[in-house]
Amino acid sequence: MTANDAFFKQRKPVAVFKHKLLVDYLTAWATKLSVYSNGAVAFLDGYAGTGRYEDGTPGSPLVAMNAAQALRDQQSPKVLRNFFVESDPKYFKELKKNVLSHPLGQTARLYPGDVVDHLDSVVTQVGSAPLLVFLDPFGTSFDSDLIKTHFLTDPKMKVEVLLNVSIQAVWRIGGLLTSNTYEPHFHKSLERLDNSLDGTWWRAQFIEARERFQLDGTARYVAQAAREVSDAFANRLVHGTPHQALSVHLRKTTEAEPIFSLTLFHKHREARLLFIDSAARAHREWRRAYWGDQAIRLNTSDTLFEISPDAECDHELEALSRESVAKIQKNIVSVLERALAIRVSDHPSQLFGKSIGTAGKSELRKAINKLEKDGRISVVRAKKLDDWTLKRP
Ligand SMILES: C[S@@+](CC[C@H](N)C(=O)[O-])C[C@H]1O[C@@H](n2cnc3c(N)ncnc32)[C@H](O)[C@@H]1O
Repeated sequence: MTANDAFFKQRKPVAVFKHKLLVDYLTAWATKLSVYSNGAVAFLDGYAGTGRYEDGTPGSPLVAMNAAQALRDQQSPKVLRNFFVESDPKYFKELKKNVLSHPLGQTARLYPGDVVDHLDSVVTQVGSAPLLVFLDPFGTSFDSDLIKTHFLTDPKMKVEVLLNVSIQAVWRIGGLLTSNTYEPHFHKSLERLDNSLDGTWWRAQFIEARERFQLDGTARYVAQAAREVSDAFANRLVHGTPHQALSVHLRKTTEAEPIFSLTLFHKHREARLLFIDSAARAHREWRRAYWGDQAIRLNTSDTLFEISPDAECDHELEALSRESVAKIQKNIVSVLERALAIRVSDHPSQLFGKSIGTAGKSELRKAINKLEKDGRISVVRAKKLDDWTLKRP
């Protein structure tokens, strides 16, 4: 069994985060944008995989099919057209079987082969409908040109891209740059990463950041440097385009450094709070899955452990939410030291800071209300939280 085959055996907690974020954002995005397109929207999963894990849980294609079903069943029905591409013939066969056995299976379009070879056809079929593209490759099996040339540069195209970048691949392959030994395959791995990260620029940045973090005494400085590179990559891709990038980081365990960065490339400011809020819900679901796994592990180990994962998790989530509210309050005050006023959806990453990926609209509202009550800011409210303006008192 290859490492890739092992991936499809069973869904890991980190994929719980990814899929919950995907379904929530896709549904919210489709509901919002279908208003302007007679109810029709499209989703392209460019690295689709098998559709379903061997343990029966849905992979991203089935997540999207279920979202299409839920959108069709809404009071004012929406049509989400799903396009799936998968290059591995064995996985494609599975994908086809899994998608076609879904009640809406016949409505999906399935393509075997390289995603690049099918983009023109998909874009033509989608026409003027809004399109959400999901790119979830294994490690470095991704060419950054795919996003740059096809999706980010055309200002007329109604497209958003959700890209999963492996931070772990950056730190593993980045380590080869200063390795004391040399193996012939190093060169190939580095070149593949260059291809994924839009050139060789990242090499110097990775080495510099790693040294800086090491000198600072930062724990896990290699992972920190890789994270910095993945953030720089997202900003580099949107430079000179009408898009902006917003990223959340995914971890294996609560204490571990992030191993993936999920970035939304978007044009409209209203995408931001939707994405941040979807990530906060995904984070809660991931914590529950993580606690569930821990409970199984601990209860099956030699020492019998009394553990109630739900209660532990609730407790942890409440504490985390309170911490996030306090952090967001600090961020708001600090932003308003530099600006007279700020509209919430213009720079939400400044307001959320490191709480992105953990906190959502509820924490933001609480932070704003508390600061207002304490007389530290004034707030001009609008119907949507996106449009609220925060000012110095
Ligand atoms: C990480 S898996 C996808 C998992 C899936 N998104 C999910 O969440 O269930 C990546 C998949 O992309 C496929 N793949 C790799 N390169 C590809 C390419 N150039 N075009 C299309 N598919 C590709 C791999 O065979 C693999 O099945």
